[in-house]
Amino acid sequence: MHIVIRPSAEAAAFLAAEAIAQALRANPGIVLGLATGRTMESVYARLVYLHLEENLDFSACHTFNLDEYVGLSRLNRNSYRYYMHEHLFRHVNINLQNTHLPDGEATDLDAECLNYERLIAKCGGIDLQLLGIGQNGHLGFNEPQSPFHSRTRVETLSDATISQNSPLFLRPGQMPKRAITMGLGSIFDCRQCILIATGNQKAEIIFRTLEGPITNLIPATILQKHRKCLIILDEIAAGLLKKNNHHESGQALQPISL
Ligand code: GLP
Repeated sequence: MHIVIRPSAEAAAFLAAEAIAQALRANPGIVLGLATGRTMESVYARLVYLHLEENLDFSACHTFNLDEYVGLSRLNRNSYRYYMHEHLFRHVNINLQNTHLPDGEATDLDAECLNYERLIAKCGGIDLQLLGIGQNGHLGFNEPQSPFHSRTRVETLSDATISQNSPLFLRPGQMPKRAITMGLGSIFDCRQCILIATGNQKAEIIFRTLEGPITNLIPATILQKHRKCLIILDEIAAGLLKKNNHHESGQALQPISL
C-alpha cells in the first residue's frame, strides 16, 4: 500500500481524479471500476472538469460499478445508476453502452451476479478500481464477515450501513435492505486500486484498516495484501495513524505512483 495524505478533502479528491486521468490518458481503453458515495462526488466533479477543460477522453473506456441497491430502478434518484449518470456519465463523452452496473431489478438476482462477473472477465478484468470505505470497513457493500474470496452476490446490509446511507433517501425507511455487490475476491483481482477516505467519521476505520490486523471483520483490511493500492486521505481521516510510512500533506507525487 502506498499512503498519501493531502491537506484537505478537496485536495484528496483532486489527487484521486488526477491519478485516474493519468491512467486514462495512458490507456484510453482502460477498464475502470467505479464507486459511489459522498466522497466520490468531488472526484467525479474534478474528472468532469478535466474532460471539459483538458479534453480528458472517456470515449473508449469501460466502467464497472461496485454495487447497486436491490429493487431500485435506474430512474430512482437513490439508485447508483442514477448517481453515476448525474455525477459523471452525462457530463463526459463516455459511451453509455460501455458503462456497467449490476441490475438491482433483475428477476433472477443470482443469474445477474454471475453475468456481471462474466462481463468483467469478458472485458479483460478491471485495470483500476476506485474505492470508498464504509464506517464499518465495508468495500462496495461487502459487510463485515464477507469472505475474502467472495464474488459478485446479493448482500444483506448491516444496521451500520443502513444508518450511514439512509439519510441520503428522502424517507430513510425507503432504503433497500439488500444490494448486489462485487465480492472482495472480485475487487482484489483488479490490477490497481485507489481508496479515498476523508473526514472525521473515517479516521477510526482508516486506522484499523491500514494499521490493524487483516481480518474479514473489517473487509477493507484485505487491501493490505493488494499488489498495487494507493490510499489517498485527507489530514483528518489520517488523524489516528501512528506509523510513519506515508507521504505527508503537501508533498506532491510526480508522477503519481500506485
Ligand atoms: C456506500 C457504497 C460504498 C462507499 C460508501 C462510502 O456504502 N456502497 O462503496 O464506499 O458508500 O460512502 P461515503 O463516501 O458517503 O462515506
